[in-house]
Amino acid sequence: MSALLLAAALGFLLGSIPFGLILTRAAGLGDIRAIGSGNIGATNVLRTGNRKLAAATLALDFLKGAVAVWIARALLGPETAGVAALAAVLGHCHPPWLGFRGGKGVATALGVFLGLAWPVFLAAAVTWLGMAKLVRISSASALAGLAVAVVVAAALGGGALAWPVALITAYVYARHHANIRRLLAGTEPRIGEGK
Ligand code: G3P
Repeated sequence: MSALLLAAALGFLLGSIPFGLILTRAAGLGDIRAIGSGNIGATNVLRTGNRKLAAATLALDFLKGAVAVWIARALLGPETAGVAALAAVLGHCHPPWLGFRGGKGVATALGVFLGLAWPVFLAAAVTWLGMAKLVRISSASALAGLAVAVVVAAALGGGALAWPVALITAYVYARHHANIRRLLAGTEPRIGEGK
């Protein structure tokens, strides 16, 4: 198997670990897919009222993305980092263990951005946190952070950095189609609010 295929498999497998579901089940909160938006990500875990669990979900979903890129780069070569990054986000969004119905990819995308180039991660994270403080809407903050990441990646690097960041961002935007519709209609809930 070529290094690129191995990187894709590694990224997809790591990305497909559904930490939000595992943690909420372990905490006795039931199936997170039956709560709020049904999403397995940290925003929805927060709707259980358990902030620590939401923070742990965010951290682990983030880390699996970063680790996928770091391992691919170290073991398979720097040219495989972008493929591992994209595959990790796809794995999070489509875990085989959950019938390919997973999360929306924001935390994992931020993790792979850290693995790819820390300034891209920093720009996205600062925008995300700033927007979250300002507008208190998780999806809008995440989408703004990802848009900034695309601009910074394009400014910083050549195609090797810009293409995975742009593809990942486009995919995460597509996963947020329902959120975008609610944002445009002014009905998207604020952080911690139910759905
Ligand atoms: O990362 C997902 C977040 O942006 C929105 O999640 O559960 O409100 O659809 P949710």
